Amino acid sequence: MRYSEEDIAKVKEATDLVALVRSHTDLRLKGRDWWACCPFHKEKTPSFKVSPDGGFWHCFGCGESGDAFGFIMRTENMSFPEAVLFLADRAHIEIRKDPRAIAAAGQRQRLHTICTDTADYYLNYLRTSKSTHAAAARDYLSKRGFGSDTAIQWRLGFAPGNHLLVQHLRSKGHRDDDMVAANVAVRRSSGVGDRFFERIIFPIADMQGRIIAFGGRVIDDHEPKYLNSSETPLFSKRRNLYGIDLAKSSMHESRMVLVVEGYTDVIALHKAGHCAVVATLGTALTAEHVKMLSRTVNRIVYVFDGDQAGMRAADKAAEHIDRSLSPEFAATPVTLDVVCLPTGTDPADLMDSSEGQAQFTQLLAEATPLIEFAIKRKMDKWDLHRPEERQRALNDSLTVLLPLKGTMLARHYAEYIADCISRSGDTITEKQVLDALEQTRDRPPVAAEAEGAEAEQSTYAAGTTAGSAVAGLDELPSLSVTELIERELLALVLLSSGARGYVLESVQGVPFSHPLYRAAYEQLQRLATEAGGVAAGDVLSELDELVPGVAQLVQAYSFEDAGEDARVLADNVLFRLRESALERKIRLIRSDLQKGDDTKALLEDLAQASQELHQIRAQRFQ
Ligand code: UTP
Ligand code: MN
Repeated sequence: MRYSEEDIAKVKEATDLVALVRSHTDLRLKGRDWWACCPFHKEKTPSFKVSPDGGFWHCFGCGESGDAFGFIMRTENMSFPEAVLFLADRAHIEIRKDPRAIAAAGQRQRLHTICTDTADYYLNYLRTSKSTHAAAARDYLSKRGFGSDTAIQWRLGFAPGNHLLVQHLRSKGHRDDDMVAANVAVRRSSGVGDRFFERIIFPIADMQGRIIAFGGRVIDDHEPKYLNSSETPLFSKRRNLYGIDLAKSSMHESRMVLVVEGYTDVIALHKAGHCAVVATLGTALTAEHVKMLSRTVNRIVYVFDGDQAGMRAADKAAEHIDRSLSPEFAATPVTLDVVCLPTGTDPADLMDSSEGQAQFTQLLAEATPLIEFAIKRKMDKWDLHRPEERQRALNDSLTVLLPLKGTMLARHYAEYIADCISRSGDTITEKQVLDALEQTRDRPPVAAEAEGAEAEQSTYAAGTTAGSAVAGLDELPSLSVTELIERELLALVLLSSGARGYVLESVQGVPFSHPLYRAAYEQLQRLATEAGGVAAGDVLSELDELVPGVAQLVQAYSFEDAGEDARVLADNVLFRLRESALERKIRLIRSDLQKGDDTKALLEDLAQASQELHQIRAQRFQ
């Protein structure tokens, strides 16, 4: 931590959270708390609560919460230390850094300046140099559709090499040591020289748009095609992403981001209007990347090139499957989706033609959830019509679910696995899949025989060990997702009078498929009309006599004091119910489609269900 706990507490103390939030959105006082329309998702009725006493805020709509620092991190896109500094400044509090941090900050500052001066030099060289190689670079870029506007926007440049950069930086007063530390120069036996020679330069910026590193591409077909800065005090490829500075505002608006593989993909997509896009820097997406992105977005779509490397990267992405993806572990779990491009293409290629652009948009609309994608990759290795291979397919796909053991998501995808396997032979139930998952220990027995499974295995095993540290979850009964959500809704209408009135009024028909819940709800409806309302009073004991067992079903929930939040909670649950029903419907249609009968009607159904799903999500998140 860069600042002392004491200083941080002082800043927090001096910050008026209500005033801070009010500068972003209108607040109204209700009781001791203030309410607003959430600044982090679009909504018409306020579900964003600020509690001045505790110094924190919470949105019942999108589930985000935090304190004053968290608010600034979200609204200003800052890191924690930056948010501390920002609020300290606002409150006129001076905070101290320790001397080592000051020295490090001094060096970082110098390296930032070097990177900026380097980018300026390369850009200027690209635009104005009369040399043949600069002309060739301009030619190459314009053939790819990157004219001088693009060069300026992305600060593209050309590195001539030949000590020209080092000489330039020296003339501006920079020290050789700092140039080497910034990795724009390297120490050779002949002395300090330029790192990049005759390459087109793609400067890499941080979130704030400060240049921190470079990627350089050859114009011909020399190897390596790309040379990137190595790790420096400013740059780590595990943490940084190309294009993040220019993607930021679109990410905020759309709450989603595309992650692609190449620099040129980012630029080409941007030009075609897909602005929420970043690229990894020659590595797979890391957990740090996911964490950083999910501060702003709730959906990450990986776009993989249609080549061998792309498929390897796609398989690697499955490493991000962990418990934090499951709704019960995060207030707003981030959705990870996968798009694989047609063989031999990358996004930049597709953006070259209007057909390609349309195809890309279509592929995005059909993105597969990462977990489903990973399971499918496993299933595809086996012939599901052969009994012995069905068992292996099951074991193999269970490795994907291992890190999710005991979660709602595991249940959801157990259903998916059961559907997949049942399609090609005897029926296997979701319960059987879950039981098999329970019995699967760290090392899946069959995966070891599968091709290339060894490297993957260690990751899954690590995930499992970490996962099983969460106690108690394994004891949850094996309910399907639908049943879990239905149970939550039932508990809500039985325990909270606010939610009861709201649901009874606004929902046509009976939202339950489970016979017991259905019966309970029908009795509740009857009571409501016959007895002139069930708004107040203890409806639970009365219902338990009519439908024995109901009270016990909902005893684990505590919605009694939901109060004003009841409607928001009810809306949440009703949404999840509709969403999961539609998702299941879509899966079933897809599996029928693969069987190949009555394709036309099925495609219509699919389009309609997808559109409905899209609509309810849009209504909710926009
Ligand atoms: P690609 O080979 O797909 O390059 O590598 P690209 O971005 O599509 O480039 P063009 O369109 O052929 O010019 C994707 C990414 O992998 C990293 C780079 O970050 C590149 O953008 N890479 C690739 C390297 O770091 N080194 C290499 O030699 C090749
Ligand atoms: Mn590519």
